Amino acid sequence: MAFSWFFGEDLVLDLGTSNTLIYSVKKDIKTIEPSVVAVDLTNYEIVAVGESAKNMEGKTLDNIITLNPIKSGRIINFEIAEVMVSNLLKKIKSNFSVIHPKIYITISSGISEVDRRAIEDCVIYAGARSVEFVPAAVASAMGMNLPALDPSGSIIVNIGGGTVDVSLVSLGGIVASKFVEIGGDFVDYDIMNIIKNKYDLMIDKETCEYIKISLSSFLTNKITNSLSIFGRDINTGMPRNAVIYGKDITSSLFPLFNAVCDAIKVILEKTPPSMTGNVLKNGVFLTGGCSNISGCVEYIQSQVGVLVNKTENSLSCTCLGAKKLVENKKNIKIKQNRGKIYE
Ligand SMILES: Nc1ncnc2c1ncn2[C@@H]1O[C@H](COP(=O)(O)OP(=O)(O)OP(=O)(O)O)[C@@H](O)[C@H]1O
Ligand SMILES: [Mg+2]
Repeated sequence: MAFSWFFGEDLVLDLGTSNTLIYSVKKDIKTIEPSVVAVDLTNYEIVAVGESAKNMEGKTLDNIITLNPIKSGRIINFEIAEVMVSNLLKKIKSNFSVIHPKIYITISSGISEVDRRAIEDCVIYAGARSVEFVPAAVASAMGMNLPALDPSGSIIVNIGGGTVDVSLVSLGGIVASKFVEIGGDFVDYDIMNIIKNKYDLMIDKETCEYIKISLSSFLTNKITNSLSIFGRDINTGMPRNAVIYGKDITSSLFPLFNAVCDAIKVILEKTPPSMTGNVLKNGVFLTGGCSNISGCVEYIQSQVGVLVNKTENSLSCTCLGAKKLVENKKNIKIKQNRGKIYE
């Protein structure tokens, strides 16, 4: 007990484009925060991290900016990412004695060796004693209670804020995967452009995300739903509102979900014959925040022609599954080498 207090507890980390999650492996302690940091440009001090920083987006004084240190699953601003991770570690530390924890980081199949090294260094500088990588798709499969460690084969489709990762998981490893740098953020920017062109209204990122979550849908009975939004008229510069309809923004969903369908088809083609029976019987499994977009299950199913399932805990299932994997560590093979993920 005293020994584990000295060395700290094991944690799992999901460093996402939109959200960063840290779970304690042994205890029921977790933190889930948007991957956003607010910085004061006059003295380069960190003003806020996570939810409070996200709430400042578009509402701050000129000297304060909000930054997203992760893009498409990669660190694009090392110092800010380090501050964010160390801040979240401190948050979890106030709950129990994490001194220098060992951190298991979930990592998508498409992240390069160089980017993995950057994530590893960032997390070490932020206060980890050591790090190990866990394949995100295997973790997600565990989080969905799928037989990820069996030889049956499950196709996991993670649709996040900046990435799409479609992987065939079997025996605790990745048999085939397709990674695409597209995600919910791209839908938000498309919505911003549609509202600007159709309604002559400039809206902020937060409003775009709100429209995506509450109005966007593939379902024909929902595209007549409407929403009143506020923005700035691009001609007069004055604030005003507009009532927008679901059908106005449906087009913003196609680039993302067509990329998802194409990636699933690639993985279906690469699925070995020994696993096709299982895959066709069980279908593919969606996770990630954008799997909550209304009607996307039906749309993907119609495009790829296989059963599509969706998890309920889409934002936390990868981190939850990584925790389960680490708890079951004795049953699986983990490569200890720096920068290597286990197979
Ligand atoms: N209920 C919802 N409906 C639609 N979209 C949602 C919903 N909840 C979250 N999202 C979107 O999901 C995305 C975030 O998902 P998630 O947390 O899985 O991404 P991430 O893990 O941070 O990113 P990545 O894995 O791509 O690096 C955001 O674009 C967010 O707007
Ligand atoms: Mg993710």
